[in-house]
Amino acid sequence: MSTSQDKLATLLTERYGKSQQIPENIIATPQVEAMLSHKSVRAFLPDPLPEGALETMVAAAQSASSSSNLHQWSVVAITDRVLKQKISDTIARTVPTNHIPYLEEAPVLLLWIADLSRGAKITREKGEEPLVFDYLDSFLMASVDATLAAQNAALAAESMGLGIVFMGMIRNASREVAEIVNLPQHSFATFGMVVGKPDSSRTSSIRPRPEQAVVLHYNRYDQERYRNHIENYEKVFLDFRQAQSMKPKIWKDSVYQSATSLEYMGGREYLRETVQDRGFKLK
Ligand SMILES: Cc1cc2nc3c(=O)[nH]c(=O)nc-3n(C[C@H](O)[C@H](O)[C@H](O)COP(=O)(O)O)c2cc1C
Repeated sequence: MSTSQDKLATLLTERYGKSQQIPENIIATPQVEAMLSHKSVRAFLPDPLPEGALETMVAAAQSASSSSNLHQWSVVAITDRVLKQKISDTIARTVPTNHIPYLEEAPVLLLWIADLSRGAKITREKGEEPLVFDYLDSFLMASVDATLAAQNAALAAESMGLGIVFMGMIRNASREVAEIVNLPQHSFATFGMVVGKPDSSRTSSIRPRPEQAVVLHYNRYDQERYRNHIENYEKVFLDFRQAQSMKPKIWKDSVYQSATSLEYMGGREYLRETVQDRGFKLK
């Protein structure tokens, strides 16, 4: 095997674990290898981002596809430590742990904004009301655009040796976060992303995913397709947790808990009202 094939084989074993079926026909490209190498980072060095890193991430983000080329997203880079701490303290009040060490450590928090506010202004300056923005689809479109942009930025960051972790948790305190960073009406912080130099002495490993048959359907959706493949994933899931010194747990219980515990929502159960107050009518 060539070095590149060796690397691909290692990455695939880490991604799917030894107890699961690993696809044998994966085509190795530098981009695929980079994506297979992804792992969330929750331990950072105090160093600032390298010069140009943020602008590089934003160029990558802007290179993502954008619904109708409308660019209905923005990103707010929180580089001010005091402001970041204020956001961290605000979110920490919504979770049992009281503080969020990785957010405190990392030099930058990016807030990815579903942003119809520019479109609303441009439309009103023409003397019309942006009535299409009242519909759920407009909110979804802007949220999808923000998400695609963010994922491109994440890949760019990782390619520069930086680490990232997405933070859906910022939605626990959506209203407060919007106030802290002055978000205009018709904009909403979909999620955050913490970025910094990973502290490699404290980072975890690549987190395995279920076999492809769990997520991949050919031509028609097969509702039962996942069943025969979950047991293998449970083995891999448990092995990973053991290797990372995490409490033993089965994956299905994570699914079950996330589906039944309102505590898990941490305030997001009131999101519809917040989103509507931010100007999205969600018709
Ligand atoms: C939209 C989104 C929101 C997330 N929010 C959080 C979060 O608030 N806190 C956190 O620690 N991880 C968060 N994550 C990271 C996931 O937990 C992580 O991606 C998942 O466990 C898989 O691990 P990996 O990214 O290392 O492969 C989020 C991921 C996504 C995609």
